[in-house]
Amino acid sequence: MIAPAAQASSRLSRRAFDVDAVRREFPILSTLSRGQPLVYLDNAATSQKPEDVIAAISRYYRSENANIHRGVYQLSERATLAWEAARRRVAHFIGAGSSDEVVFVRGTTEAINLVASSFVRRQRAAADVVLVTEMEHHANIVPWQLAGAATRPIPITGAGQLDLDAAERMLAEGPRLLAVAHVSNAIGTINPVAELCQIARRYGVPVLVDGAQAAPHLAIDVQALDCDFYCFSGHKVFGPTGIGVLWARQEHLTSMPPYQGGGDMIDEVTFERTTFAPAPRRFEAGTPHIAGATGLDAALSWLEAQDRDAVARYEEHLRDYATEVLTEIPGVRLFGTGTERAPVQAFVLDGVHPHDLASLLDADGICVRAGHHCTQPLHRALGVSSTARASFALYNTTAEIDLLGEGLIRARKVLGR
Ligand code: ALA
Repeated sequence: MIAPAAQASSRLSRRAFDVDAVRREFPILSTLSRGQPLVYLDNAATSQKPEDVIAAISRYYRSENANIHRGVYQLSERATLAWEAARRRVAHFIGAGSSDEVVFVRGTTEAINLVASSFVRRQRAAADVVLVTEMEHHANIVPWQLAGAATRPIPITGAGQLDLDAAERMLAEGPRLLAVAHVSNAIGTINPVAELCQIARRYGVPVLVDGAQAAPHLAIDVQALDCDFYCFSGHKVFGPTGIGVLWARQEHLTSMPPYQGGGDMIDEVTFERTTFAPAPRRFEAGTPHIAGATGLDAALSWLEAQDRDAVARYEEHLRDYATEVLTEIPGVRLFGTGTERAPVQAFVLDGVHPHDLASLLDADGICVRAGHHCTQPLHRALGVSSTARASFALYNTTAEIDLLGEGLIRARKVLGR
């Protein structure tokens, strides 16, 4: 029998997550699309923003806007404080040991390009291999190739999970780096990154984790994961576009050369030779997205204030409900069906191009993404050129999933399937 106190606390924690209350904080969710209530199911592409984030950006421009690290006047000092406070917030959000290990970038793509350019290209041996996975986003493949490395993929199994035996064999060959998504953007698989880091450590291989799709859904602790680099984007975690994070171990940041040159990243400049500021500033050339960082600070603060366990349970419920609804529709095939999965569901409706499907759903006010989702190698491995994808956030509802199901049934009829 459950003790009354435990019962009360479990009721409390179930009550603690109130989707209607959450929805009220996102102004866009009460707007119309094509004359219908907006049903936004493309959260893996970008998330919507709560009032707190919109207000923080507006407040910054109304009362704090100045350049950072440059002015001796109070307004510049306040902007600098806001920028550095955002850095501390990020460090807390990902469990970093120090905010000096947090570099602000434009987003996950720039973070990976920075590591590719500074850690791989500039310190490269001739035959470098970067081990990736078959499910990587192009942003975690192309930068390594541009840096001159060969990319080799760890294969996936039928349900869309990594083949860990193959991973171990490939890590034993001593690649320069393992670059792996924490969560697949296309099929939602949550990869066992802590286990991969442990294996990689045995072979002395550093690990970069692309956390773009994990940050909105999972609690992140870079020290517990024991990775070397972790990156994510602000806009997928309820913050603004144009701001993102690269976290790296201090020892790497100290030894890595700058990625871009410009103002605010130097120690001393002469025409003969320039010396650089310590990390993280040496990687933040030029005037950065200060308003973006204040918005990201507000977004992470908003997310941290939610009951994360209740949110995780709710998102699992959305994921399972979507799988159930879609499975019941004749002609629908699902991709990514493992149990360790974020609330993302890729699918096709036999005989219908995913783009046509997405257009028909759009007429009902339903937003899903269709295409290869910047994962052409994954789609090749799945044996299709494109899929439709519904991806959920904590503000989505089962009623919206019902609308998606009804929309698909209508689409079948319209297209005579
Ligand atoms: N990477 C984003 C997506 O999966 C844009 O849609």
